[in-house]
Amino acid sequence: MTAVYERLQNCYKNIQDQICVRPKVALVLGSGLGDYADGIRIESTLDYHEISGFPVSTVSGHKGRFVFGYVKDVPVVIMQGRVHYYEGYPMEDVVLPIRLMKMMGAEILFLTNAAGGVNYDFHAGDFMMITDQISDFVPSPLIGPNVEELGERFPDMSHIYDPKLCQVLRETSHDLGISLKEGTYLQLTGPNFESPHEVRMCRILGADAVGMSTACEAVAANHMKMRICGISCISNMACGMTEQPLSHTEVKETADQVAPRFKELITEAIVRMG
Ligand code: HPA
Repeated sequence: MTAVYERLQNCYKNIQDQICVRPKVALVLGSGLGDYADGIRIESTLDYHEISGFPVSTVSGHKGRFVFGYVKDVPVVIMQGRVHYYEGYPMEDVVLPIRLMKMMGAEILFLTNAAGGVNYDFHAGDFMMITDQISDFVPSPLIGPNVEELGERFPDMSHIYDPKLCQVLRETSHDLGISLKEGTYLQLTGPNFESPHEVRMCRILGADAVGMSTACEAVAANHMKMRICGISCISNMACGMTEQPLSHTEVKETADQVAPRFKELITEAIVRMG
């Protein structure tokens, strides 16, 4: 057994007794969305720092806990606060929570984040369904001995974002009258925002949005054959596309403003996926 799997199993054993819901959907909340979890039917919560060996997020505005409960009747586990590579954790730690949620029983991974718009057709406050990703600027979380218990050595990446779940998101947004853009998400390490030419590079590579999370989580989940979907909240246009300098405050403010609609979309989509 690999050290990674042993650690994962230990983590799971530690918390097993405190998981009162077998989740179908695992939801990761991005910046500005953290309080979504407070509005669901909560059965229990588990602070990350109570889990021995678990990485703890240090970003302001990110709580660090799992929330177990129901979105309408769909059993879910929610990550209120994720772990970022730029915090200094190795990739193995960054994706540990994702692997743990699969061990809890989650089949679907619903990823959300705040991201910078790279596509000139986007505006701050837009929502973008992630249809594909570019993760080559961060190390793959699968580097190292393959964890056979989780998945194969060379996983196919043709459909990281599940086409059927994407269709559910499309139909849900249409029915709710919420505009949903589509595009490719590119992950950089952060924590600095990009320079104008880095943003230009992202666009040339085919990215529509840029961020500092998510793609590595999707790589780990795809390895485990979870069904994945994701939505970015375009919290700002990326550096160099407007005159305005970027700040984390702006990212949070925009995400907060559009959060009610984002929550509506997520809730209805989860109900239809359940
Ligand atoms: N760049 C990278 N990550 C981000 C941005 C951005 O402009 N906005 C929110 N997360």
